[in-house]
Amino acid sequence: MFRRLKRMAKSAVDYVQSDRLDGTTPIPGSDEELAFPPLQYRRTVGPTQTVDFDNPSGQRIWGDLAIGPLEAGEAYGKIFDFGCGCGRNARQLLLQHEPPQRYVGVDVHPGMIRWCQKHLKRRGVDVRFDHHDVWSPTYAPENSRRETLPLRQYGDDFTLVNAHSVFTHLYERQTEFYLEECRALIADRGILRTTWFFFNREWFPVLAPHQHSLFVNDFDPSQAVYYDWGYLLDLLRRLELVIVHVNWTSKPGYQNEVYLAKGTAEDVSGGFTPPPTVLGFGGSEPPPYDGPE
Ligand SMILES: C[S@@+](CC[C@H](N)C(=O)[O-])C[C@H]1O[C@@H](n2cnc3c(N)ncnc32)[C@H](O)[C@@H]1O
Repeated sequence: MFRRLKRMAKSAVDYVQSDRLDGTTPIPGSDEELAFPPLQYRRTVGPTQTVDFDNPSGQRIWGDLAIGPLEAGEAYGKIFDFGCGCGRNARQLLLQHEPPQRYVGVDVHPGMIRWCQKHLKRRGVDVRFDHHDVWSPTYAPENSRRETLPLRQYGDDFTLVNAHSVFTHLYERQTEFYLEECRALIADRGILRTTWFFFNREWFPVLAPHQHSLFVNDFDPSQAVYYDWGYLLDLLRRLELVIVHVNWTSKPGYQNEVYLAKGTAEDVSGGFTPPPTVLGFGGSEPPPYDGPE
């Protein structure tokens, strides 16, 4: 009796956590459909509403991306998704009228990758999801205790490498490693789509010259990592990357979307300068600092 009750309780929990509750979205012009990731996984990556995972109109999810070296639409050919989570962008891309030819997603979270492997596919599209066995106290506490693993073995002809809300969770040494790996993945005409929390280091005079990031959580500092804008420009210069487009955050202190392409330039910023919505760039001047009290 007790075992039967336990089994019933478990299947009720499985059902509530399953994707079945949220329905599916039909793939345009096909008899296929895609499920929504379960609520527990949506909570793990941030947005929980199914609308944030959907693309019922089948439009290109980031617009034409006629930026940097690319023609309109060209970026959507071969996509690498670094830190794909439970396939939010993958799902939206697969629902496009014109889906990518090839899509590869990697993430440290083994459960989310298993879910994507099982549920996110479309006939005629080469889709692959791989577990990236790197440690993270929040996302992957059971993984091997290593900070980085290469990505360049996946190829060098991706038209777009996407890293949405990933560099916002990586330590400086991981960021340097992975930005270089992402650069190695793109074709000469490819672009990187990245998001970042930025701050103006002039507002944090206690930072030593070798310190470029700020954290918010002492259990898992990588819960949110803010980077000095000037440091990113230096790093891009070293990696021979240039900024080709920026969508600045409209909400003070939130993520900024930065598009990068291969190249060298005196000014790698592409002329983009942080507006007042980026931490420490708005309002008044930083308070005067005369050294420690
Ligand atoms: C805020 S979520 C964003 C997920 C997805 N990009 C999206 O927009 O829905 C951050 C993701 O980065 C992944 N992640 C964290 N560290 C990583 C690493 N070193 N390599 C690959 N993925 C990582 C996490 O597992 C998580 O899925």
